[in-house]
Amino acid sequence: ARPDTPANRVLAWYDRQGRRLPWRAPPGVRPDPYHVWLSEVMLQQTSVQAAAPYFHDFLVRWPTVHDLAAAPQDAVLAAWAGLGYYARARNLHACARVVSEQYGGVFPGTEKELRKLPGIGPYTGAAIAAIAFDQPAAPLDGNLERVVARLFDVRAELPGAKETLREHLRFLVPEDRPGDFAQGMMDLGATICVPASPKCMLCPLAEHCAARAAGTAERLPAKAAK
Ligand code: ADE
Ligand code: SF4
Repeated sequence: ARPDTPANRVLAWYDRQGRRLPWRAPPGVRPDPYHVWLSEVMLQQTSVQAAAPYFHDFLVRWPTVHDLAAAPQDAVLAAWAGLGYYARARNLHACARVVSEQYGGVFPGTEKELRKLPGIGPYTGAAIAAIAFDQPAAPLDGNLERVVARLFDVRAELPGAKETLREHLRFLVPEDRPGDFAQGMMDLGATICVPASPKCMLCPLAEHCAARAAGTAERLPAKAAK
């Protein structure tokens, strides 16, 4: 049997309860890095629900990174309309061109190399490395900040506490299936460990959760007054 670690709890829960999202490959199948990249760029400032139809339309129209790279920029910007933040669409197109022309259409497989591409910052680089390439990377978005702050009862305020949260998260990331772990944590944050009234009764991490034990969950993560 697998040891009872938070990561194994999250993985077992993800296998049963993870969301079936259009950019996720079936269990045991490694997803196409082009799909992972496209979805992660769309999800930078857009909800899962809003991004899903765009993801589908982009793939119908531009099935490979070469197709997207060859498209006129106007067409890409027009297809992006409604997702907002046009700089993201321009970077998306620029990135497709670099990958198509300089990498032969093959996305690089490490966080460090991914970070050199247009529009790929710390979060997106870590997400693609973990999900598409099984690297033990730790993408930390708002959902994960909340789950990690609660799991370890981190009471220091964001944004200052971010490095502490990152260290805790790194410690949790499993060698095996880091991408499923990352997506399981995203799903937990979106459906169970929600901002108000977290559903601790349904949570696979309940027995490991320091905030639940301390009764502080609903107040975390603490945020500095704006
Ligand atoms: N938000 C950002 N990336 C995501 C993913 N892969 N699944 C669900 N939500 C996400
Ligand atoms: Fe969040 Fe509650 Fe789960 Fe802790 S037990 S991680 S507070 S849902």
